[in-house]
Amino acid sequence: MLTAEEIVRVRSSFDMVFANATDMTTAFYDRIFELAPEFRPMFPADMSALKHDFIAKLAVLVGSLDEATGLLSGADVLGRNHLRYGVRPEHYPVVGEALLWSLARGLGPHWTDEVEQAWRKVYAIIAERMIAIGASSPASPITNTPRLGP
Ligand code: HEM
Repeated sequence: MLTAEEIVRVRSSFDMVFANATDMTTAFYDRIFELAPEFRPMFPADMSALKHDFIAKLAVLVGSLDEATGLLSGADVLGRNHLRYGVRPEHYPVVGEALLWSLARGLGPHWTDEVEQAWRKVYAIIAERMIAIGASSPASPITNTPRLGP
């Protein structure tokens, strides 16, 4: 997993970008669609709810970095959901690069080599787990979609 120093680096840098969450998530998804325009049809036309869900989930994952069970079970749920969205293992590197790019953009001079390495490690841990659970389980219902009405 991660060292205590890496966890501190990821958490404190995340807090900085979280202060401008909409700006960060807008840059993140714009970057994905710039790097891979072919991904756009997988996503909803209106991205506002997803931007919120993404940063909220990232906050939970970053909060669980020192607690492997919570982190990995969060990634398991995401991995199963992403299988349903049509996401495949080869999509993960582009999204990882877009995430790092948007963090670098948001952090400016606070984006150091150490911070970058810690974030690369975090993304690799989460993405590898999401891919592994996707490969090992049949697509199951999306578990965090709120049920409305009777
Ligand atoms: C660390 C990696 C990732 C994280 C933390 C993440 C996070 C999320 C979250 C929180 C949601 C909202 C729905 C849910 O919770 O299931 C979501 C939806 C989605 N993500 Fe990801 N994601 C990741 C990687 C990817 C990758 C690699 C792709 C590939 C293009 C992708 C494409 C999508 C799509 C298409 C949706 C569904 C949008 C919709 O129909 O509402 N994600 N993601």
